[in-house]
Amino acid sequence: MNAITPNAAAIPAPVGLLAELTHRCPLRCPYCSNPLDLDRRSRELDTATWQRVLTEAAALGVLHVHLSGGEPTARNDIVEITETCAKLGLYSNLITSGVGGALGKLQALYDVGLDHVQLSVQGVDAANAEKIGGLKNAQPQKMEFAAKVTELGLPLTLNSVIHRGNIHEVEGFIDLAVKLGAKRLEVAHTQYYGWAYVNRAALMPDKAQVDQSIRIVEAARERLKGQLVIDLVVPDYYAKYPKACAGGWGRKLINVTPQGKVLPCHAAETISHLEFWHVTEHSLGDIWANSPAFTAYRGTDWMQEPCRSCDRREKDWGGCRCQALALAGDAAATDPACSLSPLHAKVRALAVEEAAETPPDYTYRTIGANIPAPNKEDALS
Ligand code: SF4
Ligand code: FES
Repeated sequence: MNAITPNAAAIPAPVGLLAELTHRCPLRCPYCSNPLDLDRRSRELDTATWQRVLTEAAALGVLHVHLSGGEPTARNDIVEITETCAKLGLYSNLITSGVGGALGKLQALYDVGLDHVQLSVQGVDAANAEKIGGLKNAQPQKMEFAAKVTELGLPLTLNSVIHRGNIHEVEGFIDLAVKLGAKRLEVAHTQYYGWAYVNRAALMPDKAQVDQSIRIVEAARERLKGQLVIDLVVPDYYAKYPKACAGGWGRKLINVTPQGKVLPCHAAETISHLEFWHVTEHSLGDIWANSPAFTAYRGTDWMQEPCRSCDRREKDWGGCRCQALALAGDAAATDPACSLSPLHAKVRALAVEEAAETPPDYTYRTIGANIPAPNKEDALS
């Protein structure tokens, strides 16, 4: 395994590690950010390798580990992995659907030092939630799971991904978060990559609905000050400026896939020309500092106009590389979600058009589905 080169000294340490322990999941959400080509169980890293990765992450300066998937509790060793985080002093956040075996493992996770739980909720009305998640009887399991989290005294965040199928429930998500005793609610409008890109026409809300959802969140933030923190992720296609995706490429986040590929963001594999290094061949520090995928879009040298001369270039880092590839056909282009992109008007028009049409059926997330990835010909340019 390669050692960390001196180059590492010049690069700030990542703050967070997204550990995608498995792609297995009982839910089949049509907006899942996992890749279309999901890893099978037979390719997953073993326990010892994850424990080494976590040890290297702690040495590199990582503070938070997001134990994610798929459904991380589908792994038999989730308790051991969580215990390793605790022993290394890493703050552990379990990102879970709360269904399947999650409830049965919660006490053991708490006992070994789990710090935080982020529970996904697909809807407020059970029938709607279960249609979106593609699993019957999921909602009562989630409610029972949430009750157990707060009973244990673990901090609970609810994560609601918002789209046209549940945007009418934003007020209800807020009430649900209060009722369940959550400390934080994420009202996260869908970001269109992975499965959400494939399902975009089924998920795209219209601008009036988006504006209304933002007003509801702003009013609730005032009303619930000191009781519930509400994070709002606005939908890119209707935004003025893009978000600093993943906190900026290769700046804050390191993402390890179930089979051990290390990515700068969870959708980076959609950029097919990038070379991803593997935890079984390189140390995490070496990958962070030197792997071609991380160095490709780190900083600002790679930028084209209008980003290159824009005074926001070190605020949003040019937006999302994966979205730039999907929409502009060039991962180094300005994210077309930005109003300064020459493609922004087309993106906006596309959103308006899709939101006005009758939504098609969902293409549910499935391992081995063989859905073709969007290619250059699908781009707007
Ligand atoms: Fe951000 Fe580039 Fe848009 Fe400027 S032009 S706001 S740097 S995406
Ligand atoms: Fe990859 Fe935004 S999802 S950079």
